[in-house]
Amino acid sequence: MDDDPARPVVRERVLRDGTGVVVRPLVPEDRAELTERYGQLSALSRRLRFVSAPEHLSARLLDHLLDVDQHDRVAIVAALADEPGAPGVGIARYARRRDDPTTAEAAVTVLDPHQGRGIGTLLLTELVAMALERGIDTFVADVMWENHDLLDRLRAAGAEVMPGEPGSASIRVDLPSTPDRLERSRVYQVMRTVGSA
Ligand SMILES: CC(C)(COP(=O)(O)OP(=O)(O)OC[C@H]1O[C@@H](n2cnc3c(N)ncnc32)[C@H](O)[C@@H]1OP(=O)(O)O)[C@@H](O)C(=O)NCCC(=O)NCCS
Repeated sequence: MDDDPARPVVRERVLRDGTGVVVRPLVPEDRAELTERYGQLSALSRRLRFVSAPEHLSARLLDHLLDVDQHDRVAIVAALADEPGAPGVGIARYARRRDDPTTAEAAVTVLDPHQGRGIGTLLLTELVAMALERGIDTFVADVMWENHDLLDRLRAAGAEVMPGEPGSASIRVDLPSTPDRLERSRVYQVMRTVGSA
């Protein structure tokens, strides 16, 4: 059963350009690839994804990123199914808030050369479905206050913008009631807005 949180979900999908993609759970064996792919992210993508945007992922941050239970801490990978070694080109994750268990911090990242191909949408679709199945109805994410234009556009896309960690805003967006409404949802509009940043 796909909705059994203990069972890893693997989905095979085809992008609009015909590329085959597998969406699968992140596993400890992904450690080396995660390090390598982080090194391939552009400075802009890093800054949008990681407020602190370190030059390299530290062992501690890697431990943290790989620490998933696929229930309260979910991480899924999009890999190119037809290429040798099925390289990972995108990752999406959420971490449930301890103080507010129906809310989770969420992030989606796609390698720059593969952005705009529909991979972020695939990952977000799966992430939202998993979140809804696990009782989460709101995603939050941090954005630096200095990104004034982006914050204005995120507000226009339906996100609530509030004070977050020092130096950053916390954006908050409701999830749709069912995953099939994703493309009409605020969370999708928010991802599109960041995608075109
Ligand atoms: C935000 C992000 C995850 C989107 O992933 P993606 O794979 O590019 O998204 P998709 O291809 O599914 O595109 C979704 C929409 O975003 C917009 N978009 C994505 N990439 C774009 C680009 N390069 N130029 C213009 N618009 C773009 C488009 O409106 C697109 O809609 P369309 O399918 O109707 O064309 C990706 O840009 C990314 O990793 N950015 C850096 C990290 C980040 O900011 N993460 C989000 C915060 S945690």
